Formats: sequence, C-alpha cells, structure tokens
Amino acid sequence: MTYYDKNALKLSHALLKERVKQGDIAVDATAGRGRDTLLLSELVGNEGKVYAFDIQEDAIRSTRELLTEHNRKNVSLYCESHHKMAEYVKKANAVVFNFGFLPGGNHEIYSRGDTSTKAIEAALSILADDGVISICSYYGGDTGFEERDALLTYLENLDSKQYTVMLHSFHNRKKCPPLFIVIEKNH
Ligand SMILES: C[S@@+](CC[C@H](N)C(=O)[O-])C[C@H]1O[C@@H](n2cnc3c(N)ncnc32)[C@H](O)[C@@H]1O
Repeated sequence: MTYYDKNALKLSHALLKERVKQGDIAVDATAGRGRDTLLLSELVGNEGKVYAFDIQEDAIRSTRELLTEHNRKNVSLYCESHHKMAEYVKKANAVVFNFGFLPGGNHEIYSRGDTSTKAIEAALSILADDGVISICSYYGGDTGFEERDALLTYLENLDSKQYTVMLHSFHNRKKCPPLFIVIEKNH
C-alpha cells in the first residue's frame, strides 16, 4: 500500500475491498449520495445484503437512483438515524460511517457527536466476531470539531481487551485532513 495518493475515503475503500466478502451483511450508516452503499452492494454480491441509513430524504433518493442505475437489488434503504440501526439489523460483517454533511446538500445538517457515538455503540452491538467498522471523520470547516472530539474520546475509552481501534491521520497535511479509523473486535 502506498499512502501519498490516498485520503481517508480511499483508505476506507481499500479496507472494505480487502475485508468484505460475497454473501456478507454490511451496513452503510451514512448513505449520502450512495457511493459507499454501491461499493458495499457490489462487494457482498447478490447472496449478500446491505442496509443503508440516512436522515435526509435527499440522500435516500440519490442513493436509490445510483443503485437503480447500477441494477443493484440487494440494498434496503432507511430514512432513519444510524443510532437506531440495531432495530433493523441483527448482525453485520462490516459497518461503514462517512460522517459529515451531504455532498452538494445543506451544510447545516451534519452528523453530531452524541448520535455518532451512540451509532458506533449500536454498530459494535451487531458486529460479527470477525467484522470491521470503518469510519471517516471530517472536521473543521462547517462541521467544527465537536464530533471529532466526541469520537476520539469515546474510542479511546473502548475496552482494549475487547476491541482494537486504529486511528490513521495524515499528520503533515494542512487544513484538517479527514481521519480514517478502524475498529475490530479482538477474538
Ligand atoms: C459525508 S455524507 C456521506 C457520504 C456518502 N457515504 C456517499 O458515499 O456519498 C454524510 C451523511 O451522513 C448523514 N447523516 C448525518 N447524521 C446522520 C444520522 N444521525 N443518521 C444517519 N445519517 C446521518 C448526512 O445526512 C449525510 O448524507
């Protein structure tokens, strides 16, 4: 793996391509314009299943259109906050968070520390033993630092006997480069 040509999103996709298998169950917790949902849909294949959540109808509509364009039929879409995912999904091999606001949408609607940490807790409660959680955290600019700080505090307090948390930052890049975070269960 080289890093100079990567960013948080590309690292997340590289991880998902390595870890998500045909037949798996995956959750896209922040559907947005549907690009992560589409990737997951292709990776799990027709034997697998994807559940995708977003609080904005605009995002659900965009995601549905993208999936239809690519003839993907293994995705259930919910206009619902991701902290409620465990009410819809009982087990997942991968859960993907790409926090922030909807690209090309209203910048005043974005993910918040309180619900984001609750959503990670929900994701951990449904994660398969060999599963993985991928997180891209955008901060600074319109979204500020509240969510990033809440995420880092929450994650550093996760029991290290039960979970491994890897934090990837482009340390010498300027202007708040997004973070890429991976959580695995120890087993
Ligand atoms: C950076 S975008 C996601 C990009 C998307 N994965 C894609 O491929 O286009 C973040 C999304 O999170 C959504 N969001 C914010 N708070 C949420 C919540 N509590 N539950 C679910 N989605 C939320 C926003 O509406 C926005 O569409």
